Formats: sequence, structure tokens, C-alpha cells
Amino acid sequence: MPDMKTDMKTKPKELNVVTVFSRLAPVCFKNNTSIVFEISLMIVSSLLNGAAILLTQRLLDRAAEFAAGGAVMSSVLSALAFLALAHAGNHISVGLINYTGNKNHLKIVGILRKEINKKAARLAPADFENTEILNYINKAGEGAFNAVSFVMTTMVIFALFLPYFCFVAWYLLSLKPLLVLALGAAFIPAALIQFLRVKVFTRLEDASAPVRREADYYEQCMAGREYFKETRILGAYWYFKKLFTDCITLLNRLRWKHELKANGTELAMKLLTLAAYMGVIFLLYTALMGREISVGTFAAVYASIDQLFRMMNDLVTIQIGANASRLGTIRNYLAFMDLPERGGADRAVPKTQGIRVENVSFTYPASETKAVDSVSFEIKGGETVAIVGENGSGKSTLVRLLTGLYLPDQGLVSVGGVTTAAASMESLFEHTSAVFQKYQRYQMTLKENIGISRMGAGNDTAADSEKLKLSCAQAAVEMKEFSGGYDTMLSREFGGIDLSGGQWQRVAIARAFFRDHDLIVLDEPTAAIDPIEESRIYNRFAEIVRDKTAIIVTHRMGSVRLADRILVMKKGALVETGTHDALVNSGGEYERLFNAQKQWYRQA
Ligand SMILES: Nc1ncnc2c1ncn2[C@@H]1O[C@H](COP(=O)(O)OP(=O)(O)OP(=O)(O)O)[C@@H](O)[C@H]1O
Ligand SMILES: [Mg+2]
Repeated sequence: MPDMKTDMKTKPKELNVVTVFSRLAPVCFKNNTSIVFEISLMIVSSLLNGAAILLTQRLLDRAAEFAAGGAVMSSVLSALAFLALAHAGNHISVGLINYTGNKNHLKIVGILRKEINKKAARLAPADFENTEILNYINKAGEGAFNAVSFVMTTMVIFALFLPYFCFVAWYLLSLKPLLVLALGAAFIPAALIQFLRVKVFTRLEDASAPVRREADYYEQCMAGREYFKETRILGAYWYFKKLFTDCITLLNRLRWKHELKANGTELAMKLLTLAAYMGVIFLLYTALMGREISVGTFAAVYASIDQLFRMMNDLVTIQIGANASRLGTIRNYLAFMDLPERGGADRAVPKTQGIRVENVSFTYPASETKAVDSVSFEIKGGETVAIVGENGSGKSTLVRLLTGLYLPDQGLVSVGGVTTAAASMESLFEHTSAVFQKYQRYQMTLKENIGISRMGAGNDTAADSEKLKLSCAQAAVEMKEFSGGYDTMLSREFGGIDLSGGQWQRVAIARAFFRDHDLIVLDEPTAAIDPIEESRIYNRFAEIVRDKTAIIVTHRMGSVRLADRILVMKKGALVETGTHDALVNSGGEYERLFNAQKQWYRQA
């Protein structure tokens, strides 16, 4: 069952905070001296903050002694100078932490983004048909950003807050152990409540991601360049606007519901903290009254506890809280990084030796029916094969299986004797060229649009330029339509020109011809090209592929005649194979398709 396959692949793991940190830290800290510097600065700042308590106490005691006539002015001034130095040192280190922190954050986000891109390139292309996996890809970018914030915040907690808390705890312990207990009472319940936030925000993220993706799609339908002409003319703008608004309303409702829960717990936490704070002040007051501590100590501890509470509040409500709400998206990022990869070994795949398809079936994720069902045939090296059939009969899917882009669920495809499931994508696609039904229109120059198919080979020698010219001529790319020659920018957005559907299609064909290939696949490459140019392209195509293996998918029955053999698909199954002459009067599916088109021209 395909759904089970999907579930197993995509179910996110319940990772705890320690696991999340131990997974992320190596990526963030590896070869990163600047982060070690930042952590050192945090510890320095934290200790200077602690020292300031002792120095404040000393200054106040000296001042009290001076007022009572028991100390000289210079001892008061030196205590003041030391306190000022500690504060100044602290300010300088905080400034440096902010500067290095921003720099480190950007740097690590960049590293994680690169990891995401590398990972996406290693996934099986068929995974991109799976909406669950698309959700992960969508969420991974946000997760990576949050992962960095998570690591940085954890650093703040352990290098900046924790040493200070330990220092204060040690200091209070030496004065009155009960004070430490009272502080703990404020801290522990508050921290516990934060764990509930983790759950709330993980659930929010899971519930929001599919709706957000839907909203983004509707927005694109309303305002996207590819859609707006059609949606305006069909009057569908308001329809999409309503769908978009419904999604946004749902997203807001989800957020409010979850925020309400999270904020409720936060309020409870703040009340607990306040009660403990009052307890600490009361303890201090009784210690002063009982002459257990001096006025200087009382004042210094009072001031430090005030700061401690501000820091604790910041730690629990902002730092830990923020980390908790980030965990949901970080889990998605890690789940994405853990997705099984396509794999396969790098090996020579001799495409000139043909392709063998044995009892192959393929079902798309979340689909019940097989798009390709128990298909077997062979294509000899150097043969030109045409695949025909009605819409949805499985032609494009079959082509994706033949090239090794998708792997069959059942049966095997072997290219030049190498099973597609066993070879890496790099080795399978080397010397394979293709124009897919949904080819891409790159917003780049004409030269880049074509040269993209041969990036590894380099495109700058005189021979490359000749090949570029030849490919354009073979694909009927009319150079007179490009005022800037090969450097014409093909994008209005970037100050260039736009092309018609047929012109774009010719550029896509030129791109496929330009690539060094032994196997070429054209999936409906000429659907938008006028019939005169189409027949010219096909005639040249016959020349180009004379010694190569070629697969053409087409609905134009005229162009299949150039094929050595025709495969006829129906509802995922291969129903006929043979030459045009053998099939055209066989009384089968091919004859039906051929006559349907012939009829049309007769009527016209
Ligand atoms: N991404 C997808 N997810 C789910 N089902 C899909 C997907 N792509 C195609 N299908 C289904 O697989 C079947 C075969 O589709 P395919 O695109 O291979 O047909 P085709 O013969 O190329 O059609 P056309 O002539 O319209 O290009 C169809 O029933 C289609 O609905
Ligand atoms: Mg198709």
C-alpha cells in the first residue's frame, strides 16, 4: 500500500531537547572558532555580573563605615572604581556578544541552508510527488532558522545565565541557605510549565503547515505571473481570494487557540514567580532585622535578586519559551534531514546498449490506482521509440521510470544492463537528455537557458559556441527574434523579453539537444509549436538521433512515423507495440487513435 510507504517515511520522531541539541551542535560548532569566542565572552560577562554583587556589597559597607567615621574616603573610592570597572567590562562583553552573535547566527543559518539543499538533491525525485514530503521541505527552511536560534539560546542559557545563577546560589548559600530554596521554588514550577508549551507549539506547527501551503498556493493563483491572466479572464480571482481568506482565517484561529493555551500557562507561572519573590524579600528582611547580614549585604542582595528575577523571568518566559515553541519546526527540519535518500552506486551506465523493462508497476503516493501497471518491453540501443496513448494513460510516468528518475514499486528497469534502483542518479543521468512535458522557463539569458543542460562540461570554448548555434538551429530557435543575441535576457522581471509558448518550447528542445547524450527523451516537446516548424524539428530530430536511443511521447500521430517502433499505452498498461504500418490497420487502440485524428482533418 502506497500510504503505508508514505507514513513510514514521513512520520516525525519525538525527539527530546537533549537529542535535538546533540544533533545540531556538531553542525553549528564544527570549525567555528567565532562561536567559541562568543561562549567565552558570555562566561566572562556572567562572572563580571556576579563580581558586581560582591563589589556593590563592599562599596555599600565601606560607605556605611565612612559615614560612621570608621573608614577613609580612598577605600570608598577604590571600591567604587572596582564596581565601575566590573560594570564597564560587562557592557563591553555584552556589546561584543551582540555583534558576534548576529554574525554567527547568519553564518550558521547559511550552513544549514546548504545542508537542506544538499539533502533535497539526494532525495528520490518521486518523493517530490508526495505532499507529506513537500510539507517537510516547506517547513525545513523555517526549522533550520529556528534550529540556529535554538542552539544560540541554549548557549545563552548555559554560558550566560547558568554561571550567574550558580554564583548567586553560592553567595546566598553562604548567607542564608533558605534563600536558595525560595529562589528554586520560583524557578522549578515555571520551567515545568514551559514543557507544556513545547507540546502546544508542536501541535500548532503540525496543524498550520498544510494550511499555510494551501494559502500560498491560492495567493499564487490570484497574483502569480503564470496564473493571473487566466484567473482574471475566467473570473476566478474572487474564488481564489475567498479560498485564500478562508485559509488565513483558519491559520489565525489556530494560532489564537494555541496562544491562548500557552499564555494561560505563562500567567500561572508568573503568579508563582511573584509569590516566591515576595518570600525571598521577606527572608532578607528578617535576616537584616536579626542582624544576620549587614545593610551593605542587604542592599547588594536586594539589587542582585531583582536582577536575578528579571533574568529568570527572561530565561523562563522568553529564552526557554522561545526554544520550546521552536522545537516543533526543528523536529520537522531534523525529520527532513533523516528522510531516506535515493542512494545507488556510481557506475558506468552504457545507454547505447538499450533499456529493458520487466513487469514494471508504479503508483503515485496517495493514489489508489497504478499509473503504470505490469509493463514489459525492451528498447534496443540506437532505436527510436514513440509512446502514444490517451491523456492519463501513463506515458509520462513510464518515461520517468525509463530514465531512472523514478524507481518502480514492482519489477525492474535496466539501462545498459544496470538496474536503475542500483545506480546513483548522477551515473543514470549522465549522457541522458530530456524535454519534459512540464519543462522549465529559466529567467536567465538565452545562452544560460540552453547551457544549463551542460554545466559540468563548460560552455565557453569555440566548439561550445558552435554546438550552441547548431542546437538552436536544430530546435528552430529563430535568432532574429532575440535582439541581444545569445545574451538576450528571457525575463520581463529582469529587464528582458518574454517569449511565446512555442518559442519557449523551442528553447527547451535546444537545451536538450545541446546536452551530450546517448539517450534522449522528448515528452510532448512540440505541443505548442506550429505544424510547419514541428515537422521541420522532427525531420532534424531524426538526423540527430540516428545513432542514439530516443523516446518520443506525442499526441500528434503524424510525428510517430519517424519512430522505429510504437508503444501504445492504455490505462497504465502497454496494449500494443509495433511499427505504424503494422498497427494502423490492426483494429486496436492505435488504429482508433490514428483514425480519430485523421477524421478531424477530413472534417476540417
Ligand atoms: N503527481 C501525481 N500524483 C498522483 N497521480 C498522478 C501524478 N501524475 C500523474 N498521475 C496519475 O497517473 C496517471 C498517469 O499519468 P501520466 O502523466 O503518466 O499520463 P500521460 O499518459 O502522460 O498523460 P498526458 O497525455 O495527459 O500527458 C494518471 O491517472 C494521473 O492522474
Ligand atoms: Mg504526459
